[in-house]
Amino acid sequence: MKLILLGAPGAGKGTQAEMICDHLHIPAISTGNIIREALKNETEMGLKAKSYMEAGTLVPDDVVIGIIRERLSQDDCQNGFILDGFPRTVVQAQALDEMGVEIDRVVNIEVSDEDIEKRLSGRRVCESCGTSYHLLYKAPKNEGLCDKCGGKLIIRKDDQPETIRDRLKVYHEQTEPLKDFYAQKGKLRTVIGQEEVADTTRLTLKALED
Ligand code: AP5
Ligand code: ZN
Repeated sequence: MKLILLGAPGAGKGTQAEMICDHLHIPAISTGNIIREALKNETEMGLKAKSYMEAGTLVPDDVVIGIIRERLSQDDCQNGFILDGFPRTVVQAQALDEMGVEIDRVVNIEVSDEDIEKRLSGRRVCESCGTSYHLLYKAPKNEGLCDKCGGKLIIRKDDQPETIRDRLKVYHEQTEPLKDFYAQKGKLRTVIGQEEVADTTRLTLKALED
C-alpha cells in the first residue's frame, strides 16, 4: 500500500501514520520529522530549512523533493509506505508522478480550523523520539515525559498561536488544491478527524478498503 495522508497542520496525520504503520507493517515517512532531525543535527539541509520551518512557511520544493526521492529509494519502502506531510504542493505531487511512484490511496483528514488551533496549542512532542502528545486528548502517563523513551516533552517552535495561523493560511493556499488533484485521479477519500484518535484510525483503515 502506497498511501498519502493529507490534511491541515495538526489534523492528526502524524498520529494516524503511527497507528497505521503498525497495522500495515510499512514505514511512515514524515518530511516534517526528517527536516526537524536535520535541523537538530545542523546539517546543511537542516540549516537551509530552518527559517522556513520556524516561520510556518513551506521549505522550497526542490529540497523536500530531494529528501523524498532519497528516502523512497531505500529498501524498506519497496513494499509500500505512508507519506505524512508530503506532497504539500502540486509541484511536489507532480514530482512523485515523475519519479514513477504509483500512489494507491490518498486519505484526507478533515478538521476545522478552530479545532486545529486547539489541537496544536495543546500539543507536546518528545524532544528525543518525536512522539506527539496532547495535554487533553493524548496525555502522557507521567507529566512532561514521553511514555516511550522517558524523553522531555516540549512545545514545537511552530506551535505558537501566530505561527499556527500562518501555517493554516499556507495550507489553504498551497496544499488544499491537492484534494482536487487526487480527486480527479479517483484516489481521494475524506475522513472526518474525530475527537477520539482510535475512531479516526478506524475510519482511515476503512477508507483503504474499497
Ligand atoms: P510537519 O511536521 O509536517 O507539520 P504539519 O503538517 O504542520 O503537521 P503537524 O505535525 O503539525 O500535524 P499532524 O497533522 O501530524 O498532527 P499530529 O498527529 O501531530 O511540517 C512542519 C514544517 O516542515 C512545515 O511547516 C514546513 O515548513 C516543513 N515541511 C514539512 N513537509 C514539507 C513539504 N512537503 N514541503 C515543504 N515544507 C515542508 O496531531 C496534532 C495534535 O493533535 C497532537 O497533539 C495530537 O496528540 C492531537 N491529536 C491528534 N489526533 C487527534 C484526535 N483525533 N483528537 C484530538 N487530538 C488529536
Ligand atoms: Zn520519546
